Amino acid sequence: MYSDLTFGHDDELIDELRDLDYDQDDYGLAEHDFRDLNFDDDSDGGADIILDVPYVPTDEKIVQAMLDLAEVSSKDVLYDLGCGDGRIVVAAAAERNARGVGIDIDPMRITEAIEYAAHTRVEYLTHFFEGDLLEADFSQATVVTLYLLDLVNLQLRPRLLDELRPGTRIVSHSFNMGDWKADQRQDFSGISLYKWIVPAKVAGTWQWQASSGETYRVELKQKYQKVTGRAWIDQQPALLTSALLQGDLLELILSQDTNSRPARFLMRCQAKQLLAAEGDLQATPALKITRA
Ligand SMILES: C[S@@+](CC[C@H](N)C(=O)[O-])C[C@H]1O[C@@H](n2cnc3c(N)ncnc32)[C@H](O)[C@@H]1O
Repeated sequence: MYSDLTFGHDDELIDELRDLDYDQDDYGLAEHDFRDLNFDDDSDGGADIILDVPYVPTDEKIVQAMLDLAEVSSKDVLYDLGCGDGRIVVAAAAERNARGVGIDIDPMRITEAIEYAAHTRVEYLTHFFEGDLLEADFSQATVVTLYLLDLVNLQLRPRLLDELRPGTRIVSHSFNMGDWKADQRQDFSGISLYKWIVPAKVAGTWQWQASSGETYRVELKQKYQKVTGRAWIDQQPALLTSALLQGDLLELILSQDTNSRPARFLMRCQAKQLLAAEGDLQATPALKITRA
């Protein structure tokens, strides 16, 4: 079945796409035989297009699972990077009323996507354009969907972390993101879906006043969404028993020592401050006093 494929890129990566154990009956790939795969796409009959990822559409059932995992709603702006025939963007618009943008380097795919959106009567919610996903501006997304390859995800990773707003959800079909571990993973008949929530940048030393009058200080280190650190209460070393970051929300649990009652602060990272997001325990925003 794959014998006549011609690939211009690392064969190991392609094996990952080949190895996706699709069952044609389950996933309706009959019309999208892998024999179509070709990185050097000349489907427009003109200039040779070098694809970073071959065209393999996501099965409709998996599209639904991706939208569910991303919790797409009418408040969202979904970007599908390498959008193919636009099915993810169109489904998000048609079924969730979400706005969507699809970017693909192959003009034939963009033509198909625009036609599909028109046929489904969701043109007013969707926008498709020809472009290189590695260079396109996707900073306005609240949800990003990917069906690329590990290596392409890794190339995108620094931009996803730097340019997307904290809290933006990223859902990837089949491929992960290296040592940026997913916040959630779901498996469907051998297909894995991964979800990440873009974390705020919280590394550094922060100080705030509690309503009890005490001065709290934490020195936080961060690797993606994982936060560790040290704490002081009124200049005395204290215990930071838990530091959890999800998007722009940071929960810190601190206590003076093992015998004292822990204080829990839920803070929202906003405009370079950590603002109280719950309760009245925190009297002032936490401000950064040095860089990590
Ligand atoms: C595996 S398909 C996924 C299609 C669609 N997202 C889906 O899930 O049904 C990958 C898509 O990425 C596109 N693509 C490959 N390299 C690209 C690049 N550098 N910039 C934009 N699109 C690219 C291909 O043309 C193809 O349509």
